[in-house]
Amino acid sequence: MAIYYRQEERIFTLETAHTTYQMKVDDYGFLLHLYYGGKVEGSMDYLLTYSDRGFSGNPYDAGLDRTYSMDVLPQEYPGLGTGDFRNSALVVRNGDGSECCDLRYAGHEVKAGKYALKGLPAVYAGEQEAQTLEILLEDPVSKVRVRLLYGVLEKEDMITRAAVIENAGQGAVCVEKAASACLDFVTGEYDLLTFCGRHAMERNLQRTKLGQGTFRIGSRRGTSSHQHNPAVILAERGTGEDAGGCYGMVFVYSGNFLCEAERDQYGQARVLMGLQEELFHYPLEGGESLVVPETILGYTDRGFGELSRMFHRCIRNHICRGKYAAGNRPVLLNSWEASYFDFTGETICSLAKEAAALGIDMVVMDDGWFGKRDDDNSGLGDWVVNEEKLGCSLGNMIGQINALGVKFGIWIEPEMVSEDSELYRKHPDWALQVPGRPPVRGRNQLVLDFSRKDVREYIFERICAVLDQGNIEYVKWDMNRSITDVYSAANCQGRVLYDYMIGVYDFLEKLIARYPDLLIEGCSGGGGRFDAGMLYYTPQIWCSDNTDAADRLRIQYGTSFFYPACAVGSHVSAVPNHQTGRETSLHTRGAVAMAGTFGYELDPGKLTEEEKDQIRQQVKLYKGYASLIQTGDYYRLSDPFQDACGAWAFVSQDGSRVLFTAVTTEIHGNMPVSYVRLKGLNPEAVYEDTQSGKKYYGSALMRAGLPIPAGMGEYRAYQVELAAAG
Ligand code: GLA
Repeated sequence: MAIYYRQEERIFTLETAHTTYQMKVDDYGFLLHLYYGGKVEGSMDYLLTYSDRGFSGNPYDAGLDRTYSMDVLPQEYPGLGTGDFRNSALVVRNGDGSECCDLRYAGHEVKAGKYALKGLPAVYAGEQEAQTLEILLEDPVSKVRVRLLYGVLEKEDMITRAAVIENAGQGAVCVEKAASACLDFVTGEYDLLTFCGRHAMERNLQRTKLGQGTFRIGSRRGTSSHQHNPAVILAERGTGEDAGGCYGMVFVYSGNFLCEAERDQYGQARVLMGLQEELFHYPLEGGESLVVPETILGYTDRGFGELSRMFHRCIRNHICRGKYAAGNRPVLLNSWEASYFDFTGETICSLAKEAAALGIDMVVMDDGWFGKRDDDNSGLGDWVVNEEKLGCSLGNMIGQINALGVKFGIWIEPEMVSEDSELYRKHPDWALQVPGRPPVRGRNQLVLDFSRKDVREYIFERICAVLDQGNIEYVKWDMNRSITDVYSAANCQGRVLYDYMIGVYDFLEKLIARYPDLLIEGCSGGGGRFDAGMLYYTPQIWCSDNTDAADRLRIQYGTSFFYPACAVGSHVSAVPNHQTGRETSLHTRGAVAMAGTFGYELDPGKLTEEEKDQIRQQVKLYKGYASLIQTGDYYRLSDPFQDACGAWAFVSQDGSRVLFTAVTTEIHGNMPVSYVRLKGLNPEAVYEDTQSGKKYYGSALMRAGLPIPAGMGEYRAYQVELAAAG
């Protein structure tokens, strides 16, 4: 049992292995938040204090009691218009134009198993692994109802929250803002950690002290975005990698989002995670409802490292689905940085031959194989194989590749259309465009209106017609621009971007149903839609268009705070690197790419025999490590933004096997040696370096560390496999 309700006090308690979450229905029916954090016993309502606060309104039912105000009390789902002047979880415009929603408790239910959300990705769990609490709140005047959903995964130490907003009244209302999680704290000494960036430099860690006022991050680009990831950490001051209290909040959604963190006038903190309010006005007729996507919550008092491992486990085991979720992923050779748009069927077949000789499992034909597509200005939407360019049929080419013992994968970008395409000439109204205004172009392409079923159905048919032409075992699903011109010729405005995302999810769900063994890798100019929502459909995502090993240290460091290595698309590319011009050794590039799904993004035909030999070794090595990387616990051992090296380790669940990697990031004359301390080992065990045979006690490796000599030149990689003796 993970969910308790004490009728006399009207207190709900959610228990996980190491955390307690508590809330209370108060005398007026408001649902107050009491506590979330490390395990506690008893009722936490003693934390609530009451005094007369000037300019903080009092609900009418409190009579003349001026000490009762929603402006001060911690709440589960604060609505606008109740006298709470902080950020709201919900803003509803009623039929009469008023903007208020006064939610009061109207009932609850506890169910076995974890709730699911219609049309949306969400954490899944077996009947025995989770419980659901559903609390019904209702505005007695408008009859707007909110079903607050809590999923409790006791063993995983995770709580999920989602909300369903229902119009149980007669007239129409409009939802102007909706969050799925609100965390209120009666104190406020916190930092907020966010993961911000840009195209080709995603998810840089930023730590901001929560001050009075609101700190907001979010996206209004139609995707979760390169600029801000929908995942944040609220940390007690002084919390670090190995100690300290911290809360993780991960939004399971791939579209526009908003996270607001606030310190109020009394120094109390509130963090909200939900849908972006801009470009969102969701009308609800009587009887209609809106599902607000889920937020996953986790707390630990053991620092960011432990928080990350909790989220890695949750995402690996309760978000990613399909045969690849738990299985090893194929090592890929992708044609993009090998030949860009300039290839024929022969080029792809010769990549496959190289792949076969190097032990690489799969060759992927990236952009350029369809319609008229020799550069990125045309062809999107015309999902017809360009046999003239390939010089053969797709089926024939795949047959040749498979005959070499190599699997085949293909790139698609279903959500897009080029103005220079047959599809656009036929259906210009299928693209998102505001009537009478020239559209904003992005990579010279427009966005198809995926909120429309007819548009999706057409593209689905076209894509399936391609996938049915041969043994296609992998698809890279790309999305290469931000969305503008949010206007649908056939949908109700205000809900277009939300419905767009539901449309994308619907498409993906149908694709998975039709091709259950297909491995889909998500991508949006690299990591522009790297989120838990996409991971529900695509168990791996191309982490960044930046394949530079040195930059990847930082990008993968930030990504690792929430997302497991098995989700992180990571390849070795050619040098000088195509994005930065930097040169790093093949060894370093391999070591860095091994912190992800691993593959290559280069033309092996251009390499020397020596380099090919090295790759052969690398692939062999990776395959030996694959399940350790896939299922092992991940430890960050340095901060590549601060330290002279980037270092991390994968440790098997039983602590007996370790893959340690360090890459130096600086070089100076007469440089001091860096010592990197390992984590998560058995202190009493003796670990043997499987290459050199050197032996160390776990305690020594964890307390004193391993020396990382600076050597000559920057970006030298040290990769050590350690095995516990006996
Ligand atoms: C995006 C992807 C790349 C590649 C190109 C193809 O930028 O992130 O990996 O697939 O599109 O156009």
